[in-house]
Amino acid sequence: MELGVNVDHVATLRQARRTYEPDPVSAAALAVLGGADGITVHLREDRRHIQDRDLEILKQTVFVKLNLELACNQDVLAIACRLRPDQATLVPERREEVTTEGGLDVVRFREQVSRAVTLLRDASIPVSLFLDPDMEAVEVAAEIGAAAVELHTGQYAHARGAAREIELRKLQTAARRILDLGMALHAGHGLNYQNVFSIASIPGMRELNIGHAIISRAVLVGLERAVREMKSAIQG
Ligand code: PXP
Repeated sequence: MELGVNVDHVATLRQARRTYEPDPVSAAALAVLGGADGITVHLREDRRHIQDRDLEILKQTVFVKLNLELACNQDVLAIACRLRPDQATLVPERREEVTTEGGLDVVRFREQVSRAVTLLRDASIPVSLFLDPDMEAVEVAAEIGAAAVELHTGQYAHARGAAREIELRKLQTAARRILDLGMALHAGHGLNYQNVFSIASIPGMRELNIGHAIISRAVLVGLERAVREMKSAIQG
C-alpha cells in the first residue's frame, strides 16, 4: 500500500501571507523522510496554493512518485505534458469550492475527459481519474483508457453511523469493479487517523492520498518545539 502525502495545505498557509514559508517543497522532503511513498500536489487553475515554481522544483527533487492533480484545463494539461509527473490524477475544479468537492463527472464530460486522458497518455503519463463510487463512471474510466481510479472517500468520511457503513459498501463494490476492469485502485479525500483503516483494508487498494489530516497533525505535534525554539531565539 502506498501513501501519497498531499502538501497543498502547506502551500495554502504560505499563500495566506504571500511569503516564502512554509515551503511545500521542504514539506515534501520531510514527508519522504517520514516514509511517504508519493507526493501529491494539485496545480489549480486559480493557483490558490501550489504555484508553477513548486511543481518545477518538486519535479527535480522528488524521487518517490510525484502525482499531479489537475483539471481538464488546457493550460495545466500543457504544463503536465512538459514536466511529466509520474502520475496525473484528473479532478473536477470549481473556483468557488473550498476543496475538491466530488468526483469527476466522467459520464457527462466523457469527451473532454477522454481527450485529456489521451493527451497525457501520449506524453507517457499514467492517468488516474478521481471518481465517486459510481458504476457507470467506473465503466467509462476503463473505456477511455484510465490506468487507475482514485475513489472519492469524502462522502464516507463525512457520514456517521449506519450511513458510513452504506458509503463503505459503495466504495467496496466500486473497488471490485475497478480491479475487474484491470485498473489500479486508489482512494482519497477526507481520510484521517480514525477512518483510514477501513479504506486501507479494501482488497486490492494500492494508493491512498492524504493531506489535511497529516498536515493538521503536523501543526499540533510540532507546535511545542516551535515555541521553545522562538523562546530560545528571543533569549539569543
Ligand atoms: N485526493 C484528491 C483527488 C484530492 O483532491 C484531495 C484534496 O486535495 C485529496 C486526495 C486529499 O484530501 P485531504 O486533504 O482531505 O486528505
